Amino acid sequence: MCGIIAYTGTRSCTDLLYQGLRKLEYRGYDSAGLSVLSGGRIEVIRAVGNMDSLEKELEGNGHSDARLGLGHTRWATHGRPSTENAHPHSDCTGNVSIVLNGIIENYVNLRSELAANGHEFTSETDAEVVAHLIENHYNGDLLEAVRLTYADIEGHFAFCAIHSGHPELIAGARKECPLLIGVGKDEAFIASAIPAFLSETRDVIVIGDEELFVATPAGVTIMDLEKNELEREVTQVNWDVDAAEKAGFETFMRKEIYEQPDSLTDTIAGRLPDGGGVVLDEMAISDEVLAGIDKIYIVACGTSYHAGMVGRYVLENWSGVAVELDVASEFRYRDPVLSPSTLVVGISQSGETADTLAAMRQARKLGSKVLAITNIMGSQATRDADGVIYTRAGLEIGVAATKSHVAQIAAIHLLALYLAQARGAMSAGEIDGIASELKAVPELLQTYLRHEATTHEIAKRYYQQPFFLYLGRGVGLPVCLEGALKLKEISYIPTEAYAAGEMKHGPIALLDEGSPVVVVATDGHVYDKVISNIEEVRARSAAVIAVATEGNEGIKAYSDDVMFVPATSELLSPLLSVVPLQLLAYHIAQLKGCNVDQPRNLAKTVTVE
Ligand code: G6P
Repeated sequence: MCGIIAYTGTRSCTDLLYQGLRKLEYRGYDSAGLSVLSGGRIEVIRAVGNMDSLEKELEGNGHSDARLGLGHTRWATHGRPSTENAHPHSDCTGNVSIVLNGIIENYVNLRSELAANGHEFTSETDAEVVAHLIENHYNGDLLEAVRLTYADIEGHFAFCAIHSGHPELIAGARKECPLLIGVGKDEAFIASAIPAFLSETRDVIVIGDEELFVATPAGVTIMDLEKNELEREVTQVNWDVDAAEKAGFETFMRKEIYEQPDSLTDTIAGRLPDGGGVVLDEMAISDEVLAGIDKIYIVACGTSYHAGMVGRYVLENWSGVAVELDVASEFRYRDPVLSPSTLVVGISQSGETADTLAAMRQARKLGSKVLAITNIMGSQATRDADGVIYTRAGLEIGVAATKSHVAQIAAIHLLALYLAQARGAMSAGEIDGIASELKAVPELLQTYLRHEATTHEIAKRYYQQPFFLYLGRGVGLPVCLEGALKLKEISYIPTEAYAAGEMKHGPIALLDEGSPVVVVATDGHVYDKVISNIEEVRARSAAVIAVATEGNEGIKAYSDDVMFVPATSELLSPLLSVVPLQLLAYHIAQLKGCNVDQPRNLAKTVTVE
């Protein structure tokens, strides 16, 4: 977790670092800080809270002469959020300053060794040892000190270091956590993610895993751990700068909910050609291998896991392959039964989630083929996989995933059709029939979004309720799980999501007069069963909020409120039915005055296990 940025160049850099951190805030926002070289000294400015707190701290404190500096926005792992624990961290002399993303697993031992040698620590963090190790190893050569420090530390991390004796130099390293360089004219930015410097340069160099770098205004050098220089291409990113802004919406989350039709269109584009069939350019796993697969294992976390659960229904139905599913943090510590004929699918918006990556690596070690479904080009997940399906949702800033989720579901639809094609499980005509339906969904979603006001009205009626139960069956179940997650994470209202048929085995005891029960009751082969469950809820005088298919007027007799979504086939329906639940959560959270883009205790990218 955490976002880091560094600058070396000819411009005054405090504001550049600050603006960069604003774009990285989604990675953590419990404290933030900057260090800049000003008047020959390293000045450190830190604050607890999000970037607004740092902004206040910087008022009248801009160090306009600074041309070299570091910035960090933190999501606490070791040590509570406090000014002392905020980065950048310094050595004993104040000559060294570092920012780090990740975890130093052996920091306890290192810290006691350093302390025994007279080093004084000012924070409770694991990261501070890096500043002291650099101090120990420094002999006039910052890169060498970084290299030796890298050899001392264990874990997964990316860090940048500056030294007051080197007014133009940034040195650093990465192991598993991301680090990219933005190259400008007589300047360089180093950051955890591209948006941090996108407004300044589009020329990007990726620092590889287990590599070192040095950057000065004159250029950048990437090296292996023996300091052998490595050739690196500069790639041009074509992202829209405005994508990182709210574009007129009051929050990123609502903007991203409205971007879902585009996210779907882009994810499908070119992959279901008019001539028929499914094309997945980065699949890289041969049809022959796919034809021999006898089990699919889906691993993911959070919202991505819920997309994976939709995948279980879709993949089994269309490709005929048995599907297992697990949250990555459980999978990696079990003894999953995998073989070369298992296809493991890791789903991760960021491509950086530590548990998902570990699960994918474990699967590869056991000889299985691994496929990544991710939104981020070149992310670690793509390097830990044999093949990739990119979702093309664009940059997602809201911590609560929305547009990346529907894109993941669409990517799974594409995978299921691709497998069906490779294995001959469906006829070309059947595949093309589903393909046409899938292509029609973005337009249906666009139409649905025009009816947002209905959901807003429903939210007004229920937002003061202390508890919500969500029920669904079949593909409606993962939709419920996702709807309940959205509500709890952004409004802090306790929720429970259950397979509707299981309700009578426990959750029904929670129901009282007027308890809101959200039921996904879209058309499908389990619709009548869902209606029976609704009857059970109503018999306890609970209030039913149904998500149903347009045209189903009959549902009104069973519900207190209905959110209608356009009709599509059952296995495609989660692409539509999840959206009213996103909006319901959104409006409830807004009515409760919560910060939906930055819910407490959460972060968008979880690079710690
Ligand atoms: C965090 C985010 C969630 C996300 C999950 C998995 O918990 O807040 O929105 O679903 O991580 O992230 P990934 O990037 O692997 O999809």
